[in-house]
Amino acid sequence: MKITLINASPKKRGSFSNYILNELLPLVKTESEPEILSMSFWDDDFFNDLCSSDVLVFAFPLYVDSLPASFLHFLMHFEERLKGSPANIRIYGLVNAGFLEGHQNRYALEILSHFCRRAGLTWGGGLGIGGGPFLHGMANVSWKFSAKRPVYDGLVHLSEAIKNGQVLENDLLITPKIPRKIYMTVANHQWITEAKKNGLKKKELYKK
Ligand SMILES: Cc1cc2nc3c(=O)[nH]c(=O)nc-3n(C[C@H](O)[C@H](O)[C@H](O)COP(=O)(O)O)c2cc1C
Repeated sequence: MKITLINASPKKRGSFSNYILNELLPLVKTESEPEILSMSFWDDDFFNDLCSSDVLVFAFPLYVDSLPASFLHFLMHFEERLKGSPANIRIYGLVNAGFLEGHQNRYALEILSHFCRRAGLTWGGGLGIGGGPFLHGMANVSWKFSAKRPVYDGLVHLSEAIKNGQVLENDLLITPKIPRKIYMTVANHQWITEAKKNGLKKKELYKK
């Protein structure tokens, strides 16, 4: 079974999507080695690689409750490409959000499932993870840590479905186990620090 993992984050480097695919990689190892591709550049070879796969896993960030425009653009081309040569591929989504709650990702996964139906692909289901930047910042902390554990359990659940050729009954929407108040305090602090680094004052963040 050929499994291809695709990083669909628009970030050139340092994306959570890339990090989480590297964590998924050993869990979906079968007799053949899965590979991770980046969507930063796509040509005929890239599409050939996708079309010769049995399974594709798209990892991407949640942008405004939806998919990044670059990913949507890619999907439109992929759909055109599939019209010429339909393929029997199972698709899974792995989306992460800045907000803490996993359910923030539900519409983005629904959009990807609609794409699959339209393009004649099999929708295998998705994993929606909340608190992406927090989890990324804790990359060096073991998955056994209670705050991260539910996310790892979700990854294992997804990997089992992928390897066993199963379709998830429901999307897995996972919230890291961290009090919301603490998360919001840290997130707001980071948001303001990032703004300052980029020459913006705090009040400029709230301008309407
Ligand atoms: C343009 C933009 C829109 C975003 N929209 C949302 C959103 O609607 N909800 C949310 O929870 N996070 C949102 N985020 C946060 C990202 O989903 C989050 O930072 C994610 O971890 C980035 O993943 P990546 O590193 O794989 O690109 C947005 C970020 C950007 C840059």
